[in-house]
Formats: sequence, C-alpha cells, structure tokens
Amino acid sequence: IQINVTDRDGARTEGVEWKDYETLMECLTRNKFPILATCGGNASCSTCHSYLDQETFVKTGGTNEEEEDLLEMLDDTRHDNSRLACQVEWSESLDGAEIEIAPEW
Ligand code: FES
Repeated sequence: IQINVTDRDGARTEGVEWKDYETLMECLTRNKFPILATCGGNASCSTCHSYLDQETFVKTGGTNEEEEDLLEMLDDTRHDNSRLACQVEWSESLDGAEIEIAPEW
C-alpha cells in the first residue's frame, strides 16, 4: 500500500510504500524518515510518535494499553489521533493514510 507522510519540517511525501510485513515504524525508518526507534519497537521510547488522520486512527483500532501508558507521559504533543508507529500494523485498508511525524519531545 502507499501512504503520505508529513515530516517534522512540514514537508509532505506522497506515495510512500508500506510493505505488508512492516509495522508503520519500520516503514518510516526504511523510507529514511527521522525516527530513532531507540527501543526497537517495544512501545517504550516514544520516538516513533506519529499522528494519523482520524479515519486511519479509527481503522487501526486506536491505542493499546502499553502504548497508552507511554503516550500519557507526552502531555502537550499528545493528540487524540496519536499513535506509536511501532504499534501500528499494516493493513490493506490503510492505503492512502495520512501520517504526520510528531515533534520531538
Ligand atoms: Fe520505541 Fe515505538 S519505537 S516506542
């Protein structure tokens, strides 16, 4: 599938390929977006914090419990549509998603 990604500097890239075996975090790092993913995808570093368009957020089923604990600590950068990209699984239905990389904390 292909998604559109807005970087921290506001630059939007269309048609970013997301492969079916990747989490969203793996897709973003493979495509050289500035995500450190220090914890390797274990929902414990928050460097993969991203905003999903509302429809996509709903399609992903929202946050999981582990993720919620971490997002709660982000306070001001946390939005209603925040997800940790490492916790977002690929799905055919996410084609065309709008993803925005959240500011660094
Ligand atoms: Fe660390 Fe997602 S990669 S929280």
